[in-house]
Amino acid sequence: MTNLLGNDSSVWCRRHLLDVQDLSTAEIELVMQTADVMSKQINSPMKKSDALRGKTVITLFYEASTRTRGSFEMAAKNLGADVINMTVQSSSISKGESLINTLHTLVQIGADMIVMRHPLSGAHYCAAPYMQASLINAGDGWHAHPTQALLDLYTVRQHAGDLQGRKIVIVGDIKHSRVAHSNIWCLSKMGAKIVLCAPPTLLPAGLADMRNCFPHVEVENRIDKALVGADVIMVLRLQKERMRGDLLPGTADFICGYQLNATRLALANPQAIVMHPGPVNEDIELSASVLRSPRSVVGKQVSNGVAVRMAILQLLNASKNQ
Ligand code: CP
Repeated sequence: MTNLLGNDSSVWCRRHLLDVQDLSTAEIELVMQTADVMSKQINSPMKKSDALRGKTVITLFYEASTRTRGSFEMAAKNLGADVINMTVQSSSISKGESLINTLHTLVQIGADMIVMRHPLSGAHYCAAPYMQASLINAGDGWHAHPTQALLDLYTVRQHAGDLQGRKIVIVGDIKHSRVAHSNIWCLSKMGAKIVLCAPPTLLPAGLADMRNCFPHVEVENRIDKALVGADVIMVLRLQKERMRGDLLPGTADFICGYQLNATRLALANPQAIVMHPGPVNEDIELSASVLRSPRSVVGKQVSNGVAVRMAILQLLNASKNQ
């Protein structure tokens, strides 16, 4: 059976998007194909459709966000949905209302889909069994950021084509990065070879287990070695808000050892692209000149986020209607 987009609707049967780790390669491919359709829609004179007309999408953010919250709002509006934005400060969460009670309240208001960012890893898995609305993980603690990984995959494929055997270097604060964790799963599932480059104190615990699951994930602490032959370089900011204790001698040492600058970029393949999920701390993890160079696809990641999030909303809505 095919859905409105002409895709095999049996591929996507899920009501929630909690983690990219749960997705099969067929589901990931379906998201990519649907995002292509959404991208054409955004770039057409009409721009908007009625696919989610009559549906209400609520964004519930317990942490700050510019890109994820803004692009989900744009995605939902492009599909004709009504959108309500909630933050901790503007809701009764600030009066002590629990997560589950807050979510129930939003469903009673009429939410069909709730896009949630939460500081606790696994919060979405706790909440999902109690939810009548679709729940979408917009980032949970250090754990996962599935829609970021999907938009990163979409962007890599636009620029580097098939991922099979491609070398992707992830450099920076990998330990605290939900983006890195989701990308390691997603990109290696799609065939890429991943090299993690960070000081040992900024690598995740449980790396040995992860490498049992993913034999194509390697660690190289020296950036000059890691970058040789790279097709994609994904740079991450220092997440000082999540650091417990002194994990680095200082920011200057991090810049000296791990900043991606023009000299270091020259070690990668000549066509290599530079990515960053944002927000960028300019001239710390990434030099301003590289950020603004033609090799940087950071702006493209942001704009692709709208098409990929439209795809997710549309697929979740279609599976609810089956
Ligand atoms: N990449 C990302 O999640 O950015 P925001 O925190 O601005 O949403």
